[in-house]
Order: sequence, then structure tokens, then C-alpha cells
Amino acid sequence: MAINSRATIPSQFQRVVSGMRPTGNLHLGHYHGVLKNWVRLQNDKECFFFVADWHALTTHYEDSRVIEESVWDMVIDWLAAGVNPKKSHIFIQSQVPEHAELHTLLSMMTPLSWLERVPTYKDQQEKLKERDLSTYGFLGYPLLQSADILAYRAGEVPVGEDQVAHVELTREVARRFNHIYGKESGFEQKAEIAAKKMGKKNAKIYARLRRSFQEEGNHDALETARALLEDQQNITMGDRERLFGYLDGGGKVILPEPQPLLTKASKMPGIDGQKMSKSYGNTISLREDPEEVKRKIRTMPTDPARVRLTDPGDPAKCPVWDFHKIYTDESVRGELAQGCKNASIGCVDCKQYVVEGVLKELLPMQERARNFTKDPKMIRTIIEEGGEFAREEARRTMVEVRHAMGLSYSK
Ligand code: TRP
Ligand code: SF4
Repeated sequence: MAINSRATIPSQFQRVVSGMRPTGNLHLGHYHGVLKNWVRLQNDKECFFFVADWHALTTHYEDSRVIEESVWDMVIDWLAAGVNPKKSHIFIQSQVPEHAELHTLLSMMTPLSWLERVPTYKDQQEKLKERDLSTYGFLGYPLLQSADILAYRAGEVPVGEDQVAHVELTREVARRFNHIYGKESGFEQKAEIAAKKMGKKNAKIYARLRRSFQEEGNHDALETARALLEDQQNITMGDRERLFGYLDGGGKVILPEPQPLLTKASKMPGIDGQKMSKSYGNTISLREDPEEVKRKIRTMPTDPARVRLTDPGDPAKCPVWDFHKIYTDESVRGELAQGCKNASIGCVDCKQYVVEGVLKELLPMQERARNFTKDPKMIRTIIEEGGEFAREEARRTMVEVRHAMGLSYSK
């Protein structure tokens, strides 16, 4: 059984949401680990990509200037990397206050222990010892992230390995929410009425499949019924959610459970062989001056066994090799590996291929970034439009959430 036996994600929830914290320059690690993936996803999914400025504040509340300064450059880097505002909705988190509203509401029903046991909580506190992270906001970091995701009822969340626990928390919170608030009064009757709206034939099929799952545990029947619901054009979103919930005996699915979409990131090491990260000072930034790029790569450590040109080396022991895996064609790479092992090629020449590969990738991006920088008005318009669209969607979710919690104060 798939882990999402209770996921019930109707097709309109096949949406992607992801955010990035604006805390400084983007580097090749962001590009290969995240941005390339976003660019790919926007072609076949509806994507919401946002600047997580509130998340940045959880760690940088004392120097919030950095955030303000990073936001626009970050958006420019996204665009330069190929995130396309015609395909994706690009916006700033704090400009969609519904994220905060949902965060508050979810906080009422989220056990403290769920947040305390999220691994990043203690890890980050250890890692960022110089900052005081014993704050309320920092503990709530992953729950704010859940609100980001659930506000759009996203189906998929592209994240790195370290963020999977946050998506997992989101799933638990959604499940708890649906369990507590999905049982509207008269749910069963409403579901029965909704079924009839699919037409007599479909209603009958639905009833049969539902029985088959509930009485005989037939999972294929459940899947077939879900597919049937996805195909329905004539029922409202609310009715569809009811019918999804009614199928497996749960309540109405108000907040569907998202899946993490693990980035199959080509491992992007830093220039010292460790993971590329600002805190290790081993990055090549997307805005890096080409001369600096050359210098950084030329001074990279290599296989320590190769002291002299005549010493044979082993690519597996060389940090430069991880760059080759990303930047150099397989055929050339084979030759270089040979040359390294029999000492027929020097490290300087070997590295030159990486220099060229990185520059070939960065120069066009930098060119595009320069052009975007010349047009700040356009960037603001992109963010404004993305924000308006996102807000509309998040509002829709909040209407349902408030209604389910008894906060709509109207009939
Ligand atoms: N926590 C994420 C990170 O550090 C950023 C983030 C905030 C995010 N909200 C999100 C990612 C929602 C995905 C979905 O990378
Ligand atoms: Fe590394 Fe290339 Fe030098 Fe071999 S030749 S040690 S792979 S830089």
C-alpha cells in the first residue's frame, strides 16, 4: 500500500508549492538542487514559488535588512535561471497574509511535541549557535511551512532531503485538521446528494466501489472510485471533496495531504568537497565574477596523492570530479579519468573543463540577470501579479477553513 492511502488528492490539487528563504546570494547549490527542478516542474504542473521572507525572519530577525536586500536579487536570479512568470506564480510570502492566518489556526490544534521533535529544530539551534533561536517563531517554523503548503492545497512539494520532515508534519497536521473539522453536520446526507449529481449511472458505480472498499477492503475499487471522481466535470469542488472523504470513511477533505517531491539533485559539492553552503564559505554564487570563478576552481583541492604531474591520481578521491559529473560530457569524462589515473593529464588542464562548463552555464544567466536588474518595475509587476493570484487562491482555501471551524459567522 502506498504511504498515501489517505491522501485523496483530486486533480485540482496537483499543484506544486515551494519557497526559498532570502538570506543572501544564490549559488550553484541552489541552482542544481532546487531551481533547475522548479524550471522543469513549471512545464507540467501549476506552480507557486514564493520568497519565504517570514521564514527568513525566524533566524534573521535581528538583521532583517539582509532579507530586504536579498529579496529582489533572489527573484531576479530565479528569473535568470528560467523560472517563468507566465508559467508559475511568483510572489512574496508576507504579501499573502492568509499564510499567517492559516498558521495561527493550525497552531491551535498542533501538539507542541510534534514541533519539538522535528529534527531541524534542534539541528539548526546547534548549528546556528551564535543566534538566539529559542523563540516562539522558530519553533513554529515548520508549521508556518505547513500553512504555506496547505493554503494552496498543494499536491506536491519539491524539497531537499532536509525538508522532508516538514512535509511529513504538514501531512499529519492536515490529517488532524480534516479529522477534527471535516465532519460537517449532515455529512453523509450531503455526500449522498453529491453522488446523485454525478448522474444515475456514475452514482451507482460510485456506491458499488465504495461498498467494495469499505466492506471488502478492496483497494483497487478505492482507486477506481477516486479516478471516477477526478473525471467528473459537473460537480463542485466542495462536493468532490465530500465524495473523496466519504469513500474511505473519513470526513470531508478540506486540506489534502501533500507529498514531498524529492529533488534528484545531482550532488553539488562546494569548492572544498563538502556540501555547497554559505556557512562553509565554499560557494560559487550565481553572480560570481568570471575571474573569481576561474580562481576558485583553479585553487580547488584535488586528489592529495597527486603532488607532482607524474603522480597517478584517482578521480574518486578528487572534489573536482564531482563537478565533472555535472559539467563534463561522459565521453570526455572517460578520457579525463584515464588521464588522471595514468598521469597523462595535469590537474590544471583537467580543471579547465570545469571552468568552461561552469562559465557556459553562468554567463548567460548573468546576462539575463543584468537585463532584469535594469527593469525593476517589471520585477515588481511580476511579484504583484503573482501575489494577487496566490492571494485569491489562498483566500478560497481560507473560506473553507473558516467555515469548517465555525468562523464564518454567516449562514
Ligand atoms: N523551509 C524551506 C527551506 O528552508 C523554505 C520553505 C518555506 C518552503 N516554506 C516552504 C519550501 C513551503 C517548500 C514549501 O528550504
Ligand atoms: Fe582531480 Fe582531474 Fe587532478 Fe585527477 S586530474 S586529481 S580528477 S583535478
